Amino acid sequence: MRVLGIETSCDDTSVALYDSERGVAANLLSSQVDLHGVFGGVVPELASRAHLVNLLPMVDLLMKQQQLRLADLDGVAVTAGPGLLGALLVGLSTAKAICFAADLPLVGVHHLEGHILANALTAELVLPATVLIVSGGHTEVVHMPEVGVYERLGGTLDDAAGEAFDKTAKLLGLPYPGGPHIDAAAKRGTPGRFRFPRPLLADQRTVFSFSGLKTAVRTVVEELPRPLDEQTIADVCYEAQEAIADVLCHRLFQAARRKHARAVYVAGGVAANGRLRERVAAEAARRGLHFVPPERVYCTDNAAMIAYAGWCHLAAGRRDALNLDSFARAPLASWREGSPS
Ligand code: KG4
Ligand code: ZN
Repeated sequence: MRVLGIETSCDDTSVALYDSERGVAANLLSSQVDLHGVFGGVVPELASRAHLVNLLPMVDLLMKQQQLRLADLDGVAVTAGPGLLGALLVGLSTAKAICFAADLPLVGVHHLEGHILANALTAELVLPATVLIVSGGHTEVVHMPEVGVYERLGGTLDDAAGEAFDKTAKLLGLPYPGGPHIDAAAKRGTPGRFRFPRPLLADQRTVFSFSGLKTAVRTVVEELPRPLDEQTIADVCYEAQEAIADVLCHRLFQAARRKHARAVYVAGGVAANGRLRERVAAEAARRGLHFVPPERVYCTDNAAMIAYAGWCHLAAGRRDALNLDSFARAPLASWREGSPS
């Protein structure tokens, strides 16, 4: 079965082909980082317009590279939400048009399910598993007894983990998005020069709060002599990353213990963070839990994860009607029950 995947929920335009015989046969990505970078964050209207310009040529390119016609596909999977509505609509309308023209089944995918199932593109899933979803818009812990069943255990009360990275980076004058730059700079950082808070660490609930970290970094940075030297930037990055990784790791394993999980997974853009992966791997080994870090290319937004999630739904006989709507927000747990199938 061959499924075309389309992802346009934020600032990356991506198309992919998942083939049950070959796995991910193609995963094309057009990043809009340069477009939004000057504004220090994603400008929704610019994102929609860029998707509109890029998407169809990317679908054409993928089909040409794979030497396929639309009739050779078995379905189209597209991110239906959550995300920026205008951006989502470009992907959804394109997917519907392809399905209508070529008489193919359409399947809408919840973006977070895509991130979770991206782990299956790296290694076979071990279940039941507890998953930490950490991206620019989300920080959630989800329990997955089986593929397609997701119990939300909790999440952030304010900023997402990715936002914490991005805002810290901005305060240090690093480019957008800041996560990868902090990851790189922190490798040269000196431990212990600064100390940032680990909010809610003693809390028994599955909750996170990252807005205090931003304030703490701002307070420290404002008192430092300008311009900031490279070593100071690296030292702040090191400690901010430690503070974020500490709370993420603590909560993930607290939840995994409660749910008697056999495995833990990380998902979303922040799952590409070297220190977080290292910490989770060490803790999983210590507790005898299964953990394989997902390939980095499948952590940040990509259509391969959407094609694969769509393939799972299509293989289980689910498809959506062509009047499927996009949505800016919706909990993962209830989305499939509520969607037309
Ligand atoms: O999943 P994603 O590509 O888009 C959303 O759905 O939000 O995640 C983007 C986020 C950004 O905040 C970015 O700074 C962060 O993931 N990120 C990282 C790393 N790579 C991307 N954060 C920390 N370390 C990284 N290596
Ligand atoms: Zn994402």
